[in-house]
Amino acid sequence: MVKNLILGIETSCDDTALGVVDSGGIVLSSVIASQIDIHSNFGGVVPELASRAHEAVIIEVLERVLKEAGLNAQSCGLDAIAVTKGPGLAGSLMVGVAVAKALSLGWRIPLIGVNHLEGHIFALSLEGRLMHFPMAVLVVSGGHTMIVRVNSLGSYEILGETLDDAAGEAFDKVARFMGLGFPGGPEIEKVATNGDPSAIRFPIAKVDRRFDFSFSGPKTAVVNYLRSNPGVSVEDVAASFQASIVETLVAKTMDAAISTNCVSIGLSGGVGANSLLRERLLAAGSVAGLEVVLPAKVNCTDNGAMIAQAGRFRLETFGADDYGLDVEASLRL
Ligand code: KG4
Ligand code: ZN
Repeated sequence: MVKNLILGIETSCDDTALGVVDSGGIVLSSVIASQIDIHSNFGGVVPELASRAHEAVIIEVLERVLKEAGLNAQSCGLDAIAVTKGPGLAGSLMVGVAVAKALSLGWRIPLIGVNHLEGHIFALSLEGRLMHFPMAVLVVSGGHTMIVRVNSLGSYEILGETLDDAAGEAFDKVARFMGLGFPGGPEIEKVATNGDPSAIRFPIAKVDRRFDFSFSGPKTAVVNYLRSNPGVSVEDVAASFQASIVETLVAKTMDAAISTNCVSIGLSGGVGANSLLRERLLAAGSVAGLEVVLPAKVNCTDNGAMIAQAGRFRLETFGADDYGLDVEASLRL
């Protein structure tokens, strides 16, 4: 059987992530080199250091991802290469795009530029999962928080998005203030397991458009609460903060899905790995009679497989890109 393999390359932020996916959306290999150690001392991603780190490790990551998929750089065995062209840090994106162009030329296989957000949407169809349309997809990560109505593959309407911080960014900033590690989301989730989610009622931000989000106010409220209550249980703060963010995300996604007549709901992006968010969305979907699609947690955070999966769709629908393909740091969906 012809497997038709696509390599996906993702370097839009601080992870050098490559994955190989077959025509059934099965992930044959996925390798991620994290730069957490490099940036953690600075309290955020330093763009210049990020692009240098991508450049330093990308060939090693490529060799590993090919080996784990049963391939090698000499005989290739791939049918196409997909690469994130934006949005993201320009210097970081350039490393992925330059490597993808060189490989495409050397191996004489098609090159496809992919929007990172479309990659998160296509993560929903990995491992043979089916997507039924119209679908309301909550894309919630460290850089983005939006509800997208996916009318069909390639046809998107942004129903709402954050007006300030992304939800993941709020998790990261609150965690930093609490002296927890980076990225903050998984750290808060861990600490929250021993806390009482109803201990503190944090305010939920008011926004003009009903499907938009704002996380800057809630983040500041938590920081102010910690400053004025130095003896408070950090477990209770983490649990209450997590509960309030999850409640907002679930309520708006459900409202958007129901009021725009979606038949299903999807969750993707790094915060989509949060267990409480997954549980609550599943429960809300079940009450509303709407199917909820949750990718595996490893496919929610940035990875190369989702880029390969979106690349396959673009190749089949629009054809390959030429070598004029350029990075677009502010690319919209
Ligand atoms: O999608 P992603 O890997 O990168 C971006 O495109 O931003 O998302 C990273 C974000 C970080 O802000 C991280 O704190 C958050 O996802 N995150 C989580 C969890 N795992 C990752 N947030 C809450 N709970 C988690 N378990
Ligand atoms: Zn992402």
